[in-house]
Amino acid sequence: MLDYIDLKYKPSKKDLVAEYYVEPNRLSLKTVSNHLAAESSIGTWDDVVTLSPKVAKRLKPSVYSINQKKKIIKIAYHEELFENGNMPQMLSSIAGNIYGMKAVKNLKLLDIHFTKSQVKSFKGPRFGIKGIRRITKVKKRPLVGTIVKPKVGLTAKQHAKVAFNAWVGGLDAVKFDENLTSMKFNKFEKNIKLTEKLRRKAEKITGEKKLYLANITAETDEMLRRAKFVQDQGGNYLMVDILTMGFAALQTVRKHVKLPLHGHRAMHAALTKGNNGMSMLVIAKISRLLGIDTLHIGTAYLGKMSESKQSTLDIQKEIENPNMKAHGELLKQKWYGMKPCLAVASGGLHPGHIPKLVKIMGNDVVIQAGGGCHAHPSGTIAGAKAMRQALEASMQKVPLRRYAKTHPELSAAIKRWGC
Ligand code: 3PG
Ligand code: 3PG
Ligand code: MG
Repeated sequence: MLDYIDLKYKPSKKDLVAEYYVEPNRLSLKTVSNHLAAESSIGTWDDVVTLSPKVAKRLKPSVYSINQKKKIIKIAYHEELFENGNMPQMLSSIAGNIYGMKAVKNLKLLDIHFTKSQVKSFKGPRFGIKGIRRITKVKKRPLVGTIVKPKVGLTAKQHAKVAFNAWVGGLDAVKFDENLTSMKFNKFEKNIKLTEKLRRKAEKITGEKKLYLANITAETDEMLRRAKFVQDQGGNYLMVDILTMGFAALQTVRKHVKLPLHGHRAMHAALTKGNNGMSMLVIAKISRLLGIDTLHIGTAYLGKMSESKQSTLDIQKEIENPNMKAHGELLKQKWYGMKPCLAVASGGLHPGHIPKLVKIMGNDVVIQAGGGCHAHPSGTIAGAKAMRQALEASMQKVPLRRYAKTHPELSAAIKRWGC
């Protein structure tokens, strides 16, 4: 079999680099690495006579790093192996057949370093962090939001009312839950019409810009139809379930819609949990390339989601992009000019978490609470107020318990959930 191992190889700027965690199945890590490099590029289980040495020389990837202790390998693939602007093709190569091979017990794609022309071949976020701040006119502080609860079950009218209460209570953003689209009892069109009316009313009352993140996730043509409907109704934000909808569909949506896109990562743990699949970091990088403006990335250990503080921070850094190392050199330009994506912390959060979250994640973050707003003993308006009060306290660097003394909604929230 062709030898793909070349520990002296130095990846060039024309190489996509993939990092994998590999648990071999009764073979050495070196042998398995060779199989992986072959199957994910030009090879198969035996050398084929149809592959000329010339083509092999040009396109053969190189396994250039094998860390036996950590079981991490790095493979450099020439960018000619990939079709620019085609995320499914890229993943069918480096995250495709290889997962199912007998040679591996577990395989996890930890990171992908794309080349400049690959990054440039995707649209990236249309708005990015600055764009979202421009729309909301919120210059410095984190944004706060909620997910209407129950996830599904409310009528369009009830749903709109909960959204309105959250906005007047002080939240910037209200979103659909990931499994709410267009239900018999809560039709998408009716929901949007009623809620957009109330959104404008809430803006008048509060003097603040309010966002409504409408989940358009559906079959692709239907998704585009719903996106247009939201735009026509004066809506200002769309939401998509990036994994269940599929990456090609995400590319299509980004191409056709003019509104910011919120990415929900429902189903990610089917890929990211344990030692098999791919890391959330990889999903986050892909989401940014494909055009997501705000992305769920976890709660840095505080809420109900399972990731650690460090992994959440690594993802935030990646999508918000300070100068990052790529191919061993520090990029002067931030991901070749691609706009950054704003991190969303969500899942089991409540007002008591806010100061800690801001300390960990900084001001460029959207903090969302569903249960932590609508389970407030006095209801949604009070829950929203408590969220905003907790944010004010943390912006003013006043301890929550002290701030709560003069803010009864926050006080009740702390009594229920602690801080
Ligand atoms: C890249 O080129 O892939 C980006 O700049 C990201 O860099 P990193 O994956 O090395 O952090
Ligand atoms: C989400 O989609 O992020 C969840 O609906 C969060 O809900 P929770 O705040 O009630 O956990
Ligand atoms: Mg949800």
